[in-house]
Amino acid sequence: MTVSLDLAFTKPGGKAENTIIAFVGPGLAVGPQVKALGVAELIARAASAARFSGKAMSVLDVLAPAGTDLDRLVLIGTGKLSDVTDYDWVRLGGVAIASVLKTPAATVLVERPDGRKLAPKHVGDLALGMKLRAYAYDRFKTKKEDEGTDRPTSVRVSLATVDLPAARKAWKRTEAIGEGVVTARDLVNDPPNLLGPIEFAERAAALKSLGVTVEILTEKDLKKLDMAALLAVARGSVRPPRVAVMRWTGGRGKQPPVTFIGKGVVFDSGGISIKPGGGMEDMKGDMAGAATVVGVMQALAGRRAKVHAVGIIGLVENMPDGAAQRPGDIVTSKAGKTIEIVNTDAEGRLVLCDLLTYAQERFKPRLMIDLATLTGAILVALGQHNAGLFANDESLANGLLAAGKATGETVWRMPLGPDYDKMIESKFADMKNVGGRWAGSTTAAQFLERFVVDTPWAHLDVAGTAMNSRQTEINKSWASGWGVRLLDQLVAEKYEK
Ligand code: BES
Ligand code: MN
Ligand code: ZN
Repeated sequence: MTVSLDLAFTKPGGKAENTIIAFVGPGLAVGPQVKALGVAELIARAASAARFSGKAMSVLDVLAPAGTDLDRLVLIGTGKLSDVTDYDWVRLGGVAIASVLKTPAATVLVERPDGRKLAPKHVGDLALGMKLRAYAYDRFKTKKEDEGTDRPTSVRVSLATVDLPAARKAWKRTEAIGEGVVTARDLVNDPPNLLGPIEFAERAAALKSLGVTVEILTEKDLKKLDMAALLAVARGSVRPPRVAVMRWTGGRGKQPPVTFIGKGVVFDSGGISIKPGGGMEDMKGDMAGAATVVGVMQALAGRRAKVHAVGIIGLVENMPDGAAQRPGDIVTSKAGKTIEIVNTDAEGRLVLCDLLTYAQERFKPRLMIDLATLTGAILVALGQHNAGLFANDESLANGLLAAGKATGETVWRMPLGPDYDKMIESKFADMKNVGGRWAGSTTAAQFLERFVVDTPWAHLDVAGTAMNSRQTEINKSWASGWGVRLLDQLVAEKYEK
């Protein structure tokens, strides 16, 4: 769901809306389109009155500027142009659209204030930032704007840029990525009563319209596949589990696929090891890893990425019940390894371990990346600013670190090692599902690593980044859709060429 944003590209110098957005650099530098407005003196006066100096992401809103027939001239600072990164252009798009969300229509003068040509990629980045910032989850708000709320409903924005075909092409690509982010956000924001495993699987199946092959595995299928660890989590819920397998085959020949695996716990009550009540509603977002996997598959298919990619998501609900699994239970995973359940609230790893085995047996993947809201401990370690990155492969880890810097969806490498692995040894089984209070994110990752056999693998713990999000220029929603842009960028940089 978004504020309906009608984006179009136009040539400079055509008919503009009465609200104009322009970019301003240090020393109040402006590009040729702004110069042609003949408002240099006006900008200088307004800037000095408001101490606006073109600092990055700063905004100066000039209402009814004298001597023009404009209603508004919105000036947006870029800061020093050599410092502006790809991600900054996305942010600038977010800042630009935010200033006009309550205005019916605006024209953005899309150009660099230093007179150099704005790369088409950055035009696409600007438009992407606009799309993401305009997102608002209002599916269940029954009052619309004209009934006295301050929620905007629609904005028309034209982007005036010199190279129309290149701009439209760049936007085609970033729009597909944006659609993937929006899907992920919608899934995470949706309430758990309406988004159980069956409904979630249906949403994944909708990717068929983009040419993605989607299979939905039912409880019966999962039993046949021996996914006993995943099924153990689902036992306490009246809503049966599903696994969705999404395949995009845009690559060449028989190349092995890059594989994304997502934790999709549609609601995590903790099960018999039930969570305290405060904040438990946030556990509707415990399927964010799966949502990101759907989002990235949508992005790759939407932009016709030249790669073979597989997305696998495990959809279950973790509930307390007479039929629920209990502490002390021992389950045999698909891989044949036995697991002593010590805490039913450490359920995500039980879902993922069977999916890791399934992915390797069926697809012999080029690499696997799992995403999961796996541990509260990752929030203690990294806050909301980085996802935890655990990996058994340097090239994959470095690719993710670089993609994180490029997209602003940053990751921080966390340790793995045999001493941590010892912490999940069990008295009764091959391993237990928790490792004690210390290094909780790492022992969860060690658990997963035990199911990885000779495959480059990375685990992203997104408990801090996916939901209850940090507010940024490009997201004001509870769900961030974190990871869609990161993984799309990783694929584009490393696995599509
Ligand atoms: N889904 C939670 C982790 C979580 C916590 C996600 C906060 C988002 C925000 C996970 O299933 C869980 O309950 N983990 C436990 C593990 C513990 C029992 C070893 C935790 O983090 O407390
Ligand atoms: Mn849990
Ligand atoms: Zn969980």
